[in-house]
Amino acid sequence: MTTIAAPTPLTHTEPTPSAPGREWWRSAVIYQVYPRSFADSDGDGMGDLPGITHRLPALRELGVDAVWLSPFQSSPQRDAGYDVSDYRDVDVRFGTLADFDRMLATAHDLGLRVIIDIVPNHSSSDHRWFQEALAAGPGSPERARYIFRDGTGENGDLPPNNWESIFGGGAWTRVTEADGRPGQWYLHLFDKSQPDFDWENPWVWEQFRGILRFWLDRGVDGFRVDVAHGMVKEAGLPDYTPPAHTGSMGGAAPTLETGGIPLEPEIAAHAGGEPATPPYFAQDGVHAIYRDWHTVLDEYSGDRVLCGEAWVEPLDKLARWVRPDEMQQTFNFAYLETPWNAAALRSVIDRSIAAFSSVGAPSTWVLSNHDVVRHATRLALHGENLQGHGIGPKTTGLPDPVFALHRARAATALMLALPGSAYLYQGEELGLPEAIDLPDDARQDPTWFRTNGERYGRDGCRVPIPWEGTEASYGFGPTAASWLPQPSTWAAYTRSSQAGVPGSTLTMYQDALDARRRYDLAFGSPEWIDLGEGTLAFRSGEVTVVVNFGEAPVALPEGEVVLASGALDGGMLPRDTTAWLV
Ligand code: NOJ
Repeated sequence: MTTIAAPTPLTHTEPTPSAPGREWWRSAVIYQVYPRSFADSDGDGMGDLPGITHRLPALRELGVDAVWLSPFQSSPQRDAGYDVSDYRDVDVRFGTLADFDRMLATAHDLGLRVIIDIVPNHSSSDHRWFQEALAAGPGSPERARYIFRDGTGENGDLPPNNWESIFGGGAWTRVTEADGRPGQWYLHLFDKSQPDFDWENPWVWEQFRGILRFWLDRGVDGFRVDVAHGMVKEAGLPDYTPPAHTGSMGGAAPTLETGGIPLEPEIAAHAGGEPATPPYFAQDGVHAIYRDWHTVLDEYSGDRVLCGEAWVEPLDKLARWVRPDEMQQTFNFAYLETPWNAAALRSVIDRSIAAFSSVGAPSTWVLSNHDVVRHATRLALHGENLQGHGIGPKTTGLPDPVFALHRARAATALMLALPGSAYLYQGEELGLPEAIDLPDDARQDPTWFRTNGERYGRDGCRVPIPWEGTEASYGFGPTAASWLPQPSTWAAYTRSSQAGVPGSTLTMYQDALDARRRYDLAFGSPEWIDLGEGTLAFRSGEVTVVVNFGEAPVALPEGEVVLASGALDGGMLPRDTTAWLV
């Protein structure tokens, strides 16, 4: 992108409400925009809201129904915006509230819904509320907004319990009181710049109701709720030691073996029993919050939604987040964590549909986001890679990118045929792989710093995306600047080089979204067909979907091919390929 078009007028078309049972979020394909890395309008190397507005027509052309924006609110950016210092304003790096309004109006005019991130588990330590809490001292109402406790040990110099931060290191930091002496400790499940709120305090509830209304009044269609499994902690804050295989966001993290382990992740990780519930995640008390938020959304016309980022297992338990009076959607991370294996995928698909339909909610499906290794790399990694730990130059078992993309396209074509709603992460429609060779001094994820470089973290999936041209920043912005360096190989992945090109990944995504809508697959009821070991096949309405996981090509059933994730060999479906037939 070299120039930015004149601002779009604020006409603001409200989306039309859907018929009951066909609410938009039951079938929507929702595209995650990571504002830092989507499009930069001013050339500072950081994406921004005017950049998003300018590029929204490309998402309309792609054929998605909605966008989800990761945080753009005021923030010191110590965790890329998931550390909010003012919930009711736009960070200067991303623009202004007027830029937000213009972006929202443009999206609505294009027929795209917009959901935004809300971060209620913690604020930034720069937030006025936390600064006031520090100043006010122990026992004050201001301290009661967050989880402050006295330390243990003789002089209170040991933390209140043994909890560890999800990003590595301890989950407590000691403050210095006004008199200069070491004082209380505060809890931060993530970075020390992200103090956890105390949701036992009605004051916190009141603040967040106000924040929801602030954005609903501006016209947002809903919220993706960050750490939706973490806001309530077990009474007494008991000690807890997580099992060895725990991923970065707290869910069980399977090993991503490519071959032969047909166990569902949560079962593989916990050898059969009910997974352990940490005292800081998946506590029953969170549900009262979502019931309350549901009533706030009901104050507004249109089908507004809450989508929970809840790393909860098993799926039956996760379904509690989407009971009729709670959220509308929750991310299905069990699906994301499932290795490329026919039996494991069939099992997780069955269990997802059963669990969510038992509470009247759609399943969602997701393969990539800003916290995990991009699936165009991940699904073909050899060996263990814990979710959130990331990969980098020293990682072994890295896949051949061509082979890995081939598999990723098959995985996407399978996902987009499933009933319910699906999430796409910016750049996956271009086939972007994980950026592996980021220099150490470019890395910004707090995980990298908190583990002294032991875990690479999530920067590799957050690199600004390429739009056009042959030189950095590949149309991301008007200059070469990008807050994380883009690999030189990304010239081959630009949107403009793929647009209208038969067989390109972009064209495959467009065709899949088009056919998904045409055949109403989001409302389908898949029925499995047995085409032999190493294949997955089902019928959904008029469409037959076949995926070949095995090495040898398999014969396709009769029918006209309406989508293929890769080249077909006559009537044969090659390895790691998905086809849809009618
Ligand atoms: C989940 C977000 O997706 C992740 O990026 C963030 O670091 C944590 N929550 C903490 O807010």
